[in-house]
Amino acid sequence: MLTAEQRADWARDGFLVLPGFVPAEACDELRAHAGTLIAGFDPGEVPSVFSTHEQTRTSDEWFLSSGDKVRCFVEEEDHRVVNKIGHAMHDLDPVFERFSRTPELAAVAHDVGLRQPLLLQSMYILKAPHVGGEVTLHTDHTFLWTDPQTVTGFWFALEDATLENGCLWALPGGHRMPARSRFRREGGGTTFDVLDPAPYPTEGEVPLEAAKGTLVVLHGLLPHRSDANRSDRSRAAYTLHCIDATATYPADNWLQRSPALPLRGFGSEVGAAPA
Ligand code: FE2
Repeated sequence: MLTAEQRADWARDGFLVLPGFVPAEACDELRAHAGTLIAGFDPGEVPSVFSTHEQTRTSDEWFLSSGDKVRCFVEEEDHRVVNKIGHAMHDLDPVFERFSRTPELAAVAHDVGLRQPLLLQSMYILKAPHVGGEVTLHTDHTFLWTDPQTVTGFWFALEDATLENGCLWALPGGHRMPARSRFRREGGGTTFDVLDPAPYPTEGEVPLEAAKGTLVVLHGLLPHRSDANRSDRSRAAYTLHCIDATATYPADNWLQRSPALPLRGFGSEVGAAPA
């Protein structure tokens, strides 16, 4: 699927931008479907999230138990605005599954080095006009740790992502630096282990503007971020994170799945569930 030049770009930069990877109609179908899920979301399902008392604990719980569910999450600035659906649509929702499990994507996953890819996490991310929040600089390995590192992000622009509406930014070659933190479960909540307190260098950071239908592939160690959306246009994206079945998946990673819903690859084969 990838040319020799694209594979060289991947090795050098830690990311790939593949315009026109997904037909516009497939992007529209996924957005419309996500809109239906969001319209059906009742914020009353998580009443405590919206009260200040115990907000952190209850929103943690809503998040921590979502690894094998389809749940809506809301903007920090405005709790009426859904900004994310996560984290197992690729296994539980036929429309998301169809978008996620394609022979083309399986081929790209193979070409960037995943030998036995398992689809671990899906997120529909909506940066609404004016209120869509920023995502601070991070690596995906920090959140979806495997030993050795294998997590790879597949980020799909469902609408044009531009400088104005909060496109991705990345640090080319940054994937050659070790991870500087690890997010994991501790007690009933979560914690960050700081492995290296130095901030990432931001010099040389580049915007990854992406027209609708573009696939951006992100190495798990690549530092990346996105700005808030202060524009009049929404920025919808879909991300899928894969790990390799040959790596160890720690029991204290935030994302845990019920044994009843084992991880699967791009076909129908059943992979090993995380321990
Ligand atoms: Fe990320």
